[in-house]
Order: sequence, then structure tokens, then C-alpha cells
Amino acid sequence: MDIGVIGCGYVGLVTGACLAELGHSVICVDSNDRKIEMLKMLKPPIYEPGLSTLLEKNKKRLTFTTKISDAVKGAPVIFIAVGTPSKGSGDADLSQVENVVSEIAGCMDSYRLIVEKSTVPVQTGMKIKSVMEMRVKGIPFDVASNPEFLREGTAIDDFLHPDRVVIGVETGKAKDIMKKIYEPISAPIIFTDIKSAEIIKHASNSFLATKISFINAVSIVCELAGANVEEVARGMGLDRRIGDRFLNAGVGFGGSCFPKDISAFRRISDKLGYKFNLLKETERINELIKKKFVEKMEEVLWNLNGKIIGVLGLAFKPNTDDMRSAPSIDIINGLLEDGARVVAYDPVAMGNAKEVLPEIDYKNDIYEVANGADCLVILTEWDVFRNMDIQKVKNLLKTPIIFDGRNIFEREKMEELGFIYIGVGV
Ligand SMILES: NC(=O)c1ccc[n+]([C@@H]2O[C@H](COP(=O)([O-])OP(=O)(O)OC[C@H]3O[C@@H](n4cnc5c(N)ncnc54)[C@H](O)[C@@H]3O)[C@@H](O)[C@H]2O)c1
Repeated sequence: MDIGVIGCGYVGLVTGACLAELGHSVICVDSNDRKIEMLKMLKPPIYEPGLSTLLEKNKKRLTFTTKISDAVKGAPVIFIAVGTPSKGSGDADLSQVENVVSEIAGCMDSYRLIVEKSTVPVQTGMKIKSVMEMRVKGIPFDVASNPEFLREGTAIDDFLHPDRVVIGVETGKAKDIMKKIYEPISAPIIFTDIKSAEIIKHASNSFLATKISFINAVSIVCELAGANVEEVARGMGLDRRIGDRFLNAGVGFGGSCFPKDISAFRRISDKLGYKFNLLKETERINELIKKKFVEKMEEVLWNLNGKIIGVLGLAFKPNTDDMRSAPSIDIINGLLEDGARVVAYDPVAMGNAKEVLPEIDYKNDIYEVANGADCLVILTEWDVFRNMDIQKVKNLLKTPIIFDGRNIFEREKMEELGFIYIGVGV
């Protein structure tokens, strides 16, 4: 099929490349000239493992342009994958979606299926429909909701081998088109109404974020009681009703999705008449766990003023360069406020980190960070940190102290090696 995808970010570009991999011809649109120039040379403007190869492999089925009209003229199905960031109020800012919808409506001359790929609050489909109805004046169209569940770092595999595909539709025609698009994917397809599809996405992300905050709250109790949250999580996770995923205690969730989606879901629930206070607590625990981590550092290092803190990992999780709402931002700002000097290394996120954390010293590897630092702090669980030469790190540090915000090491082993080791809830 011919498909247009508006927005070439983490979701839109992966969606475009994967739809091409499934055999469709895809016109990818982004308003950012620089991104489109790079993509025309098949260079991904974001870091995502395997994306470069996928673009190269499917280059005959991929077109890149800055004009929405090119996509609308060339394809009967248009996926909207633009950003839906948080407003100060916590509501989702849907202005990018509205702009795109208006532009699509302005250049449509026959039936189009508009697919919401971006994460949007429930009832956005209704709003899209009303904008379209006002503008297209009699030209037929459908709206569908097809929320995306890919995770940065494993985005391609997640798109091509998902647990499920969720599709909200209102007409048989839209259902048939969406069925055809996803035919090559062997995962259950959940066809439902548009509002339910929209809520499935917000509810899923809010549930996962709540699971993380739950285990982080348990980690606080473990620290107070002298128990080990890793053992507790193992014991809980083997219960199949609970499962062991998203049960890793740490310095909290971040990224471009959980924080904004949870607050958008809370806000829309509020507006509809239900105060979703559980989600408020999930957010509160996520803030608390970062503060507590900095406090633990103060307890051990005493005065942070003038201390050199070596930070390993800046991205909100491994295998991505995405710094949006990364816990490292709040933690490092907390350290800087207390007068510490921060030196840091991340395998791929330093370019983006420099924009949000301009005051820190960026180093070329783990060992440059450790050299002369008063302690080491692990904030992202990159494999390269798990496999570092720990003896070399110990020799380079001024004092052998590790604050492990992701519990990638075992306390006993680290203590045997002569480190003062402080994890989360262990
Ligand atoms: N990043 C994730 O892991 C992820 C996962 C699932 C869902 N989502 C959702 O997908 C949506 C997109 O997220 P993202 O991370 O890809 O965002 P992003 O910021 O990386 O990408 C959005 C892109 O849209 C482009 N854009 C904005 N306005 C435009 C316009 N008028 N015309 C053309 N292009 C325009 C921007 O230039 C940008 O490249 C969001 O709603 C997000 O919540 C993200």
C-alpha cells in the first residue's frame, strides 16, 4: 500500500522504515529540513540500533519530504506521528497534531484514512474528526487510532514483532485498510473503538510506570528495614500474576513517554470527572526516589561542595540517545545545586545531554570519568558499564565509592572487591 507518515522522530521514522520493510511504499514527512536532508542521504537523525540498515535495505520504498501535501497526494492512508509533549499543566499539548490535521484536510481531494500513531488523550479522535469535517467539506474520510508500543533501543523488533497491535476504528472500510497494512505481522490484532484504543495506550503506560514506582516504594521500605529489594522483586516476580518485568528498583522512570503520558492520563481523567490519585502517587514516588538518591550521596560523602562526582549513564535508559525527562537531569542538577563538580560519560547520549546539562564535564570513557573522582554514580544500565574493568576503576577513583542507581552490581561482590557500594533498596 501507499502510506504517508507525518513526523520522522523516534516513532514516525521507525514506523515508516518498518512499514516499508513490510512491503509498503512510504512517504515520510518532517517539518525539520535538517532531518529530511539527513534522511535523503539515509542517515538517521536519531540513534536507534538497526535503523540505518533498515533504511538502506528499504530505500526504494521510502521517500522523504518536508511537505505534508506530498504525502496526502501520494497516499490514501496517513499516519500522524508528531510529538504530543506535556504542557505546564500536565495536559498533552496537541497543537502539532491539530496543525497536521488541518494541513491534511487542506490538501485532500478524495478519501483518506487518518491514523493517530502519536499518543493522545481519549477523545482526540473525536476532535480530529470535527476539525476534518469543518475543513474537508464533503470529501469522505475515516479516522483510526493505532497507538504505538515500541521502546527506544529495541524499536524495530518491537514494531515488527509486537505483543499486540491495537487498532480503533469506526467503519468497515478503515478496518479493512488497517488489516491489510498489518497483514504481514503475526501478532494478535485488537480491533476496538477509537476511544478504547486511545485509553489502552495511556492505561498501559500508566500501569507500567506505576509498577516501577511500586517497586521503588518497596525499595524505600527495604532500606528502612534492612531487607534486599532485589530478593523481594525476585520473590514477587516469579508469581505469574505479577511477572518480573518492570520490577527493577532504581532511580525512577523517565523518557519521552511515561512522565508525560501518566500526567496526561491523570489530567484527562480529572476533566472527565474522576480524580486518578493513584497516578499522582506514582509521580510523587518517582520524584522522591531521585531526591533520596542525592540525599544518600550526601550522607556518605558528607559535603558535596567541591567534590568530583563521576557519572556513568545519562540517557533515560540504555540503547538510546534520548534525554527527555531522564532521571540523570534531576539527579545531576541536585548535585550541582549542592556545589559538586560533575564529570560524565554516556555511550551515545552526550550530544543531546549537552543541551540540557551544559554545566558538566563530558569525558570520552568510563576510565576518564573515574580518574580522580570522589565517587562513581551509575544512572543508566548500559552493558558497557556492567562489563567495565572494575579493578582499574577502583585504582583510578580517589575513594572507592559506587552509588549504583540501577543495581547492576551485587553488593557482596563489590564489598569483597573493597568498594563502599550503595545501591537502591539493597
Ligand atoms: N519515543 C517513544 O518511545 C514513543 C513510543 C510510543 C509512542 N510515542 C508517541 O509517539 C509520538 C511521537 O513521539 P517521538 O518520540 O517520535 O517524537 P519526536 O519528537 O522524536 O518526533 C516528532 C517529529 O514530528 C515532527 N513534526 C512536528 N510537527 C510537524 C509537522 N507539522 N509536520 C511534519 N513533522 C512535524 C518533528 O520535527 C519531529 O521530528 C508522541 O505522541 C509519543 O508520545 C513515542
